[in-house]
Amino acid sequence: MRLPQFAIFAQGTVAHEFIEFDVRAGVDRARAGRLITQLEQTPVSAGGVNLVVAFGADLWRRLAPDEVPAGLVDFGGIDGLDGKRVPATQHDAFLWISGSTSDVVFEHSREAMKEVAEVATVATEQSCFVHRDSRDLLGFIDGTKNPPQLEAPLAVLVPPGEPGAGGSHVFVARWIHDLDKFEGLPVADQERVFGRKKIDSVELSDDEKPETAHIARVEIDDEFGDELEIYRRSVPYGTLAEHGLYFVAFAADPSRFDRMLKRIFGLADGKRDRLTDFSRPVSGAFYFAPPLSLLGLKEEPLHEREEILRKIPLFERCSAHELRFIAARAEPHEYPASATLCKQGEKGGDFFVIVGGRAEARRDGSLLRTLGPGDFFGEIALIDEGPRSATVTSKSELRCLQIPSLQFRDVISQNADIAVRILDAVTERLRALLPPTQAH
Ligand code: CMP
Repeated sequence: MRLPQFAIFAQGTVAHEFIEFDVRAGVDRARAGRLITQLEQTPVSAGGVNLVVAFGADLWRRLAPDEVPAGLVDFGGIDGLDGKRVPATQHDAFLWISGSTSDVVFEHSREAMKEVAEVATVATEQSCFVHRDSRDLLGFIDGTKNPPQLEAPLAVLVPPGEPGAGGSHVFVARWIHDLDKFEGLPVADQERVFGRKKIDSVELSDDEKPETAHIARVEIDDEFGDELEIYRRSVPYGTLAEHGLYFVAFAADPSRFDRMLKRIFGLADGKRDRLTDFSRPVSGAFYFAPPLSLLGLKEEPLHEREEILRKIPLFERCSAHELRFIAARAEPHEYPASATLCKQGEKGGDFFVIVGGRAEARRDGSLLRTLGPGDFFGEIALIDEGPRSATVTSKSELRCLQIPSLQFRDVISQNADIAVRILDAVTERLRALLPPTQAH
C-alpha cells in the first residue's frame, strides 16, 4: 500500500493554518505544481509541524495525468433551499499546517509561502485554533462521529489499484456563525438543532431528534444502509467581528461530499439542516491530497530521465505518459567499480536498470552473466519478497536508474509489456540456475 500524507490523521495539535494558493498567471502550471509538491521535502515538514498538501483538479491533472482519481473535479457550488448556498471558490492548491503552538505554525506557513512565492500567490489564509475539548464555537463537540484512528485510512484513502491510490479527496469550506442568534436559543433547542446533547455529545433518541437536526442531515448511507464515512478535521477561527468553523473533510470518494451537502441544503429530500439558519458557508473548494510517494516531484530531471528510459529496451514500447509515470519513480545513481549492488541472500532493495557501464551477476561465486547498458536486475527478490538470488557487482563505473520496490510493483501492474519482458528475463534466469536437461 502507498503511504498517505500522515498529517491528515495527526491528532493533538492546537494551532492550525489553512492556505489556498493560485498559480501565478504566465507560470508553467506543471512546474508550479511540482514546486508545491516539494513542500513535503523542505524544512517546512521537518520542523515539528504537520503538513497536508492538496491540489485542485486542473493542477493535479497536469502533474500526474495517470494518477487522477475518479470524480476529481472543481467544486461547482450548491444552491440550496431558501436561498442558502455554498459558493464555489475553487483555487489551485491547498495547504494545511498544524502544530503545537501558533508561533511555530506561523513560521512554517511563512516558510512554505516563501518556497512557492515565485510560482504561486496566496488566495486565502485562515488561522484556526482548537476550542476547549474540540468544540465548535457553537459549543458542541466536533468530529464525534469520525471513524477511529485505525479505521480512518479506509474511509479516507483512494483504494489500492485505482488512479491516485493512497491519496484523499478534500472538501474545504469556511462557515461564518451567527453566534448571538444561536446563543439566543434555549439549550434544549440548540440540542435539537444539532441532534446531540451539548455537554457530552450523546445523540438524541430518534423520537427527540428532528429530521432537520444537523447530525441527521450529515449522515449518508450506501445502498445497503452502511454508513459512508467522511473524516472531519474542522477547526474554529475568528475575530470578535467574524467567527465560525473552517470545515475540512477527507473522503475516499468525492461523491460523499456532494451527497452530504445536498442533504444539508435540502436538495436531497426537501429537508434542510437547521444549522444553516445559524451558520453560512462563504467558500467551498475540492482538492486532492496525493499519497506521499507522489509528492516531492523533482523539476527538470524528469525530462532527462524520460529520454534515458526511452532508449532502454525494457521500456521501448511505453507511451509518453507511461515513461513519465516510470520516470517519476526512478532515481539515477552512480557507482564506482567493484561496488556490491545486491547481495545474494539479502532481502529488500531496489530494481536496477543499467544506463552505462558493466556489472556481473554471480551465485555462490560462479559467474551467471555479465550485464551491460539496457540490462536490468534485482527483479526476483522484489517479485517474491524473498532473498536476492545472486550477488551483482559493478565491473566498471556504473550508472543505473533505480526504482524502489513499492514503485516497481506499481510500474509492472500498470504496464503489461514491461511485466512480460520481466517475466521473460526471470524465466531465462531461472533456467540458467537449473542443471541442464536433455530434450527428448
Ligand atoms: P534478485 O534475486 O532480486 O537479485 C539478484 C539479481 O541477479 C536477480 O534478482 C536477477 O536480476 C539477477 N540474476 C539472477 N540470476 C541471473 C542470471 N542467471 N542471469 C542474469 N541475471 C541474474
